[in-house]
Amino acid sequence: MLNAEALAVDVVRFSQPYRSPDELANVHSVLASGHAHGDGSFTAKAAGRLRAITTSPHVLLTTSATHALEMASSLLGIGVGDEVILPSYTFPSAANAVARTGATCVFVDIDPATGNLDPDQVEEAVGPRTKAISIMNYGGVPVDIAAITAIALKAALPIIEDNAHGLGVDSGMGQLGTIGVLGVQSFHDTKNVHSGEGGALLVNDPALLERAEIMREKGTNRSQYLRGQIDKYRWVDWGSSYLLSEINAAVLDSQLASFDEIQRLRLSVWDRYALELDDWADHAGVRLMAPPRGIHAAHLFYLVMPDWASQSRMIDHLKQDGIVSAFHYVPLHSSPAGRRYGRVLRSLNACEDFSRRIVRLPLWAGMSEDQVTRVIGAVQAF
Ligand SMILES: Cc1ncc(COP(=O)(O)O)c(C=O)c1O
Repeated sequence: MLNAEALAVDVVRFSQPYRSPDELANVHSVLASGHAHGDGSFTAKAAGRLRAITTSPHVLLTTSATHALEMASSLLGIGVGDEVILPSYTFPSAANAVARTGATCVFVDIDPATGNLDPDQVEEAVGPRTKAISIMNYGGVPVDIAAITAIALKAALPIIEDNAHGLGVDSGMGQLGTIGVLGVQSFHDTKNVHSGEGGALLVNDPALLERAEIMREKGTNRSQYLRGQIDKYRWVDWGSSYLLSEINAAVLDSQLASFDEIQRLRLSVWDRYALELDDWADHAGVRLMAPPRGIHAAHLFYLVMPDWASQSRMIDHLKQDGIVSAFHYVPLHSSPAGRRYGRVLRSLNACEDFSRRIVRLPLWAGMSEDQVTRVIGAVQAF
């Protein structure tokens, strides 16, 4: 029988949250200060760091990316009778944000080279009921920005940009997160930078800022009150409690202070996979993640297996060696809720196929050289 402890030591985890040097001191200082609710000094510091990293003019920390996406739908007035175009290959949060308003998700297919939505299908899906285009930069690889923004401009549609994977990526056409009128970041502990749970709304269109602040603060103008702009705060609009606690903001601030180091460590793993698996992939008929112009966030590294059967075979094979790998999104359009809340214009074969062939390898800041070597060796032995 396997000794559970020995097994646990040997396991190469799929992901491991980064530990930043100042996190405990920061949390301690929040608890000692007596201000643990939202919008304290760590929120201000972390938001400032995010403005610098993303170049977005206004950053509101939120409880999650999911909530930031919900805010985006509400801020754009999306509602019953409207349609939002989004990739079928994405996390359900983008679709939930549409479905909760009563609007319909119009799912489009992906470009299998990147996993990002296919601009031609977006163009085809635009109709009189379309209210927004929701995009996601898979693995921090930029969507086809020129094509998507041209479609959005022509149809006068706002873009919501789910940039959960792509913090700090320079697309060559601006920082990811600032392509749309509203951008979204996630600080879930599987992301490059985390606060346990957490997120941010990047308000790139200043016209949406006042309403966004109110929505995040239970529908009140408390943010204006805190800035001394009004003498009392009141309930002025619909809102909810979307603000991050200072405890989480304290962790986030320390993580953001280590952002360059986190990215350096992640990139060193990514680069080894790309380099050392290249020959094996050629022989095995496997496609490695290959971002156009080499632009990505070192958020994930994947193999595209030659057929569907070899996906689970590879995951099982790595598991035998104590290595945890993973598939990724199950297409939304064919999911039970996707069928209820969405529609498609055609069969979305590319995302079905991608979803059934992709295998993501362990990737986190702080993986040892030995662990990376083990993963590479195990993949090559498949
Ligand atoms: C692309 C994408 N968007 C949104 C989310 C949701 O993020 P959160 O957990 O911060 O709500 C995820 C979660 O993994 C994601 O991968």
